[in-house]
Amino acid sequence: MTAPLRAGEPIVVNVALGDRAYDIVIGRDLVATLGDRVAKLRPGCKVAIVTDENVARRHLTTAEAALKASGIAVSSVNVPAGESSKSFRHFERVCDALLAARIERGDLVIALGGGVVGDLAGFAASVVRRGVDYVQVPTTLLAQVDSSVGGKTAINSTHGKNLIGAFYQPMLVLADTALLDTLPEREFRAGYAEVVKYGLLGDAAFFDWLEVNWRDLFSGGPSREHAIAVSCRAKAAIVARDERETGDRMLLNLGHTFGHAFEAAAGFSDRLLHGEAIGLGMSLAFEFSARRGLVSQADADRVVSHLAAVGLPTHVRAVPGGNWPGIDAMMDLISQDKKVKRGQLTFILVRGIGEAFVSRDVEADEVRTFLAEKLSARR
Ligand SMILES: NC(=O)c1ccc[n+]([C@@H]2O[C@H](COP(=O)([O-])OP(=O)(O)OC[C@H]3O[C@@H](n4cnc5c(N)ncnc54)[C@H](O)[C@@H]3O)[C@@H](O)[C@H]2O)c1
Ligand SMILES: [Zn+2]
Repeated sequence: MTAPLRAGEPIVVNVALGDRAYDIVIGRDLVATLGDRVAKLRPGCKVAIVTDENVARRHLTTAEAALKASGIAVSSVNVPAGESSKSFRHFERVCDALLAARIERGDLVIALGGGVVGDLAGFAASVVRRGVDYVQVPTTLLAQVDSSVGGKTAINSTHGKNLIGAFYQPMLVLADTALLDTLPEREFRAGYAEVVKYGLLGDAAFFDWLEVNWRDLFSGGPSREHAIAVSCRAKAAIVARDERETGDRMLLNLGHTFGHAFEAAAGFSDRLLHGEAIGLGMSLAFEFSARRGLVSQADADRVVSHLAAVGLPTHVRAVPGGNWPGIDAMMDLISQDKKVKRGQLTFILVRGIGEAFVSRDVEADEVRTFLAEKLSARR
């Protein structure tokens, strides 16, 4: 943790991946500098922007104007907003559009949008002409602190989410925090769950700080840049140690085993956004760890009360719609998400706030009893 920087000064976080290293630049109104930055990165290049219709309506003109002001030729392709755009159909459309725009090896793709656009555009960039470079300009909080960093790109299959993709790092991430001013509050709150995750998994002081400063972050004060920078630093450090998720990177899945099961049970719909599912999942991970005697009930209560204070769901009944599948179906979803070896599951558990670890010896029966109780609890 470092002290907040002066307002107006962009914060730069480097993702140290050798010859694939890149900067994450964080600050307000940075889209205005996009043209200059791209011109420095790739003198004389053409650019194709991939975005979605919601983001296009609000921010495409500004991004295009910034590029054109630096003499850069720009084209753009829009996909519909939402998860359904991470499909073969839209992937094909985007690839075709990049080829029609004559994007070649020396040119750049810009992903201007949330995690959906970032994952789709990044994957398209990884394969068009066997790989063209791309820049992430994330426009949701979730994308600024999570999906735009680390080079995971993917689309969905009928077999599941994110099953077709590539590790493909961007050349630059430009996180303009002013773009988040137009984000619906519910989406902002969902992204905030991932911010809290970085505190919970490895940085207790950051969690303390969030408990005090979250309102300023939501309302667009200087805490916003600071929180995004701390989050990106945490993710960058983990990715630099374990780019392909064979070890430490798994810690980023704190709250995700329980969370994904509920997200899938809700049909990946508006009923439960990803970040909301992670809020619920992290609450359950702390409670489950407390049940195992790993963490104090006081720590678990503190986590639950912070997540609840910002309006994230922290218990099963807090999700509107009721009617969760039975315990058998929920256990199926949990074991699909994580490898089961001889009745044992891999889980990210906690020994305290800021002390997550990978546990490979969780008995499926233990999870079953815990979850059955939560599903039947009144709150
Ligand atoms: N690659 C990774 O490492 C990684 C990590 C986490 C999540 N993801 C993926 O990210 C996706 C979710 O990302 P998301 O939560 O950003 O969702 P999203 O991209 O669907 O954006 C959420 C909604 O906000 C709208 N929106 C985006 N920016 C806006 C803005 N500035 N103003 C107004 N509206 C705006 C979008 O149109 C959409 O309707 C999932 O597909 C998930 O699998 C990837
Ligand atoms: Zn997540």
